[in-house]
Amino acid sequence: MTAEPGRPVALVTGGGTGIGRAIAGGLAADGFDLAIASRSATHLTEGAARLRPLGARVLEVPTDVRRPEEVEALFAAIRREYGRLDVLVNNAAGNFVVRTEQLSPNGWRAVVGIVLDGTFFCSRYAFPLLRERGSASIVNVVASYAWMAGPGTAHSAAAKAGVIALTRALAVEWARHGIRVNAVAPGPVRTEGTDERLWASEAVRATVERTVPLGRFGTPEEIADAVRFLVGRRASYITGEVLAVDGGQWLGRGVMPLLDGLAGGSDRPPR
Ligand code: COA
Repeated sequence: MTAEPGRPVALVTGGGTGIGRAIAGGLAADGFDLAIASRSATHLTEGAARLRPLGARVLEVPTDVRRPEEVEALFAAIRREYGRLDVLVNNAAGNFVVRTEQLSPNGWRAVVGIVLDGTFFCSRYAFPLLRERGSASIVNVVASYAWMAGPGTAHSAAAKAGVIALTRALAVEWARHGIRVNAVAPGPVRTEGTDERLWASEAVRATVERTVPLGRFGTPEEIADAVRFLVGRRASYITGEVLAVDGGQWLGRGVMPLLDGLAGGSDRPPR
């Protein structure tokens, strides 16, 4: 079966849960049919059940993005099912917080493999499909700690910084094929996964909120809105850009406590 003519198709890796599912949902609302890829069949099934009521067709493809042969098969499946691909969102990530001196070589490889290798493999094998469209787009989901540094995130920050470099290189190389390549850099966002892995206690969450000028965590939908903008017509002259969606966190870091200490007291935005 092929897609209805005129209905665009987006692939979101890690699209079954968290930020990826919100991005997939946002793109469904914008009229895209979807493919979602994840290592976990359960995540795919649960994600697809939430996405189909939004009116999109959803192709579920179990994939480990670290394995090039699986990634190649993923794009073959998209070609078979839909015959086209308009948007690739490289969102799949692996993350845990660990002191670098305690990080094993295999732990480093696991995270760099998912984030950096996975983004390259998916972009590489998506290229023929995207080029056929004449106008297509890739969005890579990175993180503002890629350039801010953050304790316990050396492996993930290095991988995401690599993805930013890849974003810019591909933007220049593939512009002639009508493919725009951009990145979205979330700051702190609460999902089931990040609550479990990154901000597991109220004390940690309160500390994080104090570092954000807008005074709160972002939502997965706010990240999805940035992706929807970047793949859309209103961003048609934007490529190679990294859009921070972080409540001002990276600009305000280190400065926020000083602001609280100024005469007049704290005037943080309400939570
Ligand atoms: N702290 C330190 N090391 C860790 C770790 C942690 N919390 N979690 C995993 N590792 C290490 C493992 O010990 C292993 O290294 P070793 O063989 O030297 O012991 C290595 O990472 C690979 O772990 P494993 O569980 O076998 O790999 P995996 O491929 O199944 O998992 C991860 C990949 C590690 C990235 C895992 O965290 C994951 O699957 N995450 C997906 C979800 C996610 O992180 N989303 C982001 C939400 S913020």
